[in-house]
Amino acid sequence: MDERRFNTNAIHAGRSGFQPDSMAIPIYQSVAYPYADAREAAEIFRGEKPGFTYGRWDNPTVQVFEKRMASLEHTESAIATSSGMAAIFMLAHHLLDEGDEFISSNLVYGGTFGLFQKGLSRMGLKATWVTSPEDPDAWASAITPRTKFMFVESPSNPNLFIADLPELSRLARKHGIPLIVDNTICTPALQSPIDLGADIVVHSTTKYICGNATALGGIICGPDEITEGIRKGCIRYIGASLSPFNAWLNLIGLEHLSLRMERHCQNAMIVARYLEQHPKANSVNYPGLPSNPYNKVAQKQMKGCSSLLSFELKGTYNDAVKVIDSFKLMVHATHLGTCMTIATHPASTTHSAMGEEEMRKAGISASLIRISVGLEDESDIIADMEQALQMIR
Ligand SMILES: Cc1ncc(COP(=O)(O)O)c(C=O)c1O
Repeated sequence: MDERRFNTNAIHAGRSGFQPDSMAIPIYQSVAYPYADAREAAEIFRGEKPGFTYGRWDNPTVQVFEKRMASLEHTESAIATSSGMAAIFMLAHHLLDEGDEFISSNLVYGGTFGLFQKGLSRMGLKATWVTSPEDPDAWASAITPRTKFMFVESPSNPNLFIADLPELSRLARKHGIPLIVDNTICTPALQSPIDLGADIVVHSTTKYICGNATALGGIICGPDEITEGIRKGCIRYIGASLSPFNAWLNLIGLEHLSLRMERHCQNAMIVARYLEQHPKANSVNYPGLPSNPYNKVAQKQMKGCSSLLSFELKGTYNDAVKVIDSFKLMVHATHLGTCMTIATHPASTTHSAMGEEEMRKAGISASLIRISVGLEDESDIIADMEQALQMIR
């Protein structure tokens, strides 16, 4: 772990051993690295000499991003992937053998749900869903001798469930199973799952870490045994690696991550308070609100509640569509974590593949609207929300 503090590491970590002649980390837009001679190539491939091999396994720009993320997430190392979903898939592929099982909260991003439910089950891997993930006994009773990991997204997309991470970590440790946390929504600026007892952290860096809508990316932060196992194993054979340009965009995002997260949290709290008292909102999901059931646990383990929130309208699917279509400032898109405020209808887009029954269990109704609060002036976001809510009875 790097001894410097978070903001310093977000700007400097990963540079050592790397001698760029420019302030910005250069983009090594190359898939291969010429060797001095055949002996050197063999030594590098055997891991006896530091160096780079081939773009599917490693790249100097990507390596700086990996080292920086490992430093911010307090892990031995990290491996970057082409997207958040690639990170989750690579990790599951590495940890599971045919016939194995794993446990996941059902309150996860729709793509993760689909991968676990459909993609992995076709490979003979069984997901056991915990449908009351706030209850440690529900996790405990799902564990079998074939369970190879526990997976939790906290905070979760789109309903902002917050898991008690120290409690889940204790359970995982007791059974000798790694706990994986998807830390996409908080980022390491607001939550450190490893310090709370988790073993492995995954991210869609596409979201807050990049900070705009320019680069897909993912990362797995954990012990060398896992990250290097993935590098020597499936990523080398599949090639779901992060591109140098996307790594560079993510490095830029990291430099001001905590400043952005601070303002994201402030703006989200203002929007959440406004929605909480609004006569057209049935309920608001934002753990920063004192009335939220996860507020206490969020305060214990997070420095801030990030800026994803969702609210249920007093109304129907048609009302939700009308509100979303009426936004003038907010962007209507299936994305989150950018400087622009984004509105999404999860039931018909990001989570639609779950199907109605699973969405019902996960509390994703037809009148639920997800907002990723951006960095604009808060009064402009509220004014846009108000004029859109006025469009329904
Ligand atoms: C919490 C969370 N994890 C993972 C993903 C998948 O990330 P990506 O789109 O980079 O594959 C998403 C995407 O929205 C997400 O919200």
